[in-house]
Amino acid sequence: MKLVPGTSFIEPFSVGLDLEAAVMEDPSRVTVRKASAMRGYYADPAALERLIASGDPIHYKVYEVPVPEEYGHLMYCISELEPGLVGDEYFMTKGHYHSVVQTGEIYLCLRGEGFMVMKTADGRVVAEPMARNRMVYVPPYWAHRSVNTGTEPLVSFCIYGAEAGHNYGDIETEGFGARMLRVGGKPELRP
Ligand code: F6R
Ligand code: ZN
Repeated sequence: MKLVPGTSFIEPFSVGLDLEAAVMEDPSRVTVRKASAMRGYYADPAALERLIASGDPIHYKVYEVPVPEEYGHLMYCISELEPGLVGDEYFMTKGHYHSVVQTGEIYLCLRGEGFMVMKTADGRVVAEPMARNRMVYVPPYWAHRSVNTGTEPLVSFCIYGAEAGHNYGDIETEGFGARMLRVGGKPELRP
């Protein structure tokens, strides 16, 4: 067997995914982002500070059994975003481009209701609905952020090229171009 430089050889393995319950059974890494990790992201910073002061609740969790972050491997995760509002803005993930910007991603929604909001560096914004058994294809070059507009956790299974990496910095500086707000009790994407 000839190994290719930059792509590690590893043993095959399997992982328990309960798709009904929308959980990964034995994740070896769980990333937790609380409200306090979201400073700078919402339109109403005072509302976010009130939420942080009221106990700094968990915003979202990402469950993984990581593989080498290299070309050829496929990273996968369960992403679980709580429902809620910061002012009139629905709870969302930070959102990112991939550092290797030409890597796409697949999100299979397992539970909940919301949107995948995607943007390009030249300012196009598209929101695709997320609901149980709906799959969103995030093409190369599109930054992506999940937004929970429902009343239960929004849970998805994601798969992407493991070399992708996460570029949060560009979203921190340029924003997302649009926000998912509750207007008259319903979600509306506002520039
Ligand atoms: C990986 C990916 C998801 C997100 C997760 C949390 O490329 O898109 O696993 O990482 O939904 O969102 P962020 O990373 O934007 O905080
Ligand atoms: Zn991603």
